[in-house]
Amino acid sequence: MTARANPILFFDSGIGGLSVVKEARVLLPEHPYVYVADDAAFPYGAWEEDALRARLVELFGQLIDRFSPSLIVIACNTASTLAIADLRAAYPGALFVGTVPAVKPAAERTHSGLVSVLATPGTVRRQYTRDLISAYAGKCHVRLVGSENLARLAEQYMREGFVDEEAVRVEISPCFIEQDARRTDIVVLACTHYPFLVNRMRKTAPWPVDWIDTSEAIARRALTLAETLPPPVRAEAPDSAFFTSGNPPASLRRLVSGFGFRLEGFPAFV
Ligand code: DGL
Repeated sequence: MTARANPILFFDSGIGGLSVVKEARVLLPEHPYVYVADDAAFPYGAWEEDALRARLVELFGQLIDRFSPSLIVIACNTASTLAIADLRAAYPGALFVGTVPAVKPAAERTHSGLVSVLATPGTVRRQYTRDLISAYAGKCHVRLVGSENLARLAEQYMREGFVDEEAVRVEISPCFIEQDARRTDIVVLACTHYPFLVNRMRKTAPWPVDWIDTSEAIARRALTLAETLPPPVRAEAPDSAFFTSGNPPASLRRLVSGFGFRLEGFPAFV
């Protein structure tokens, strides 16, 4: 069997999961990777729950058949908070790592007790997210901020190298609250696209806060699970990336190759 037969599969609706890949490359340099972006369905944040859940369960059936991944990292909060339990139930032989809003570390770190969770509208609506808040942040005031546009702005920034800073400022501004002489001191980046924009967020924020990015924690969780697997044998060929549209633009080809992937064909899944 070749090493490429059992890669770690990283999955997102777009390029956001590359923020997790970046950390994983440091902790798991020896493993072959496959990156899959369901760009035909981007943005996930706008999807109705039942339809997206059904799509994810069907798509993962195909991905597991095609790539036989040793480990699957769902590097997407919008997909994980909706469907991680369904995916585990549908594919009990697969090993999944999910990505969910870092509510617990935020609640542990805040001094003011005012925390904001910045996510897609889908993640903000999820019962999973509400349950995390009741379980771990009972003593804080948590504001959920669903952004319609930030994931798209991050895609644009990564592909074209340009982002409208005023648009970023408008999207993040509901995160900042002043109440009884206290101010928000933590913003949880609960979408894997957002770490790519964090410098623009810092620049346009009304005051400094801690921006919690879960990429490294997800990579560490992947490392823990990968240590239970047979040791990887790295192949000569570069890692592969697949986009479900079957037809991503040239800017994406350049972007994924900067992250060490060669873009390959995937039968369109629309
Ligand atoms: N990167 C995804 C997340 O972590 C979502 C972006 C989208 O498709 O709306 O939630």
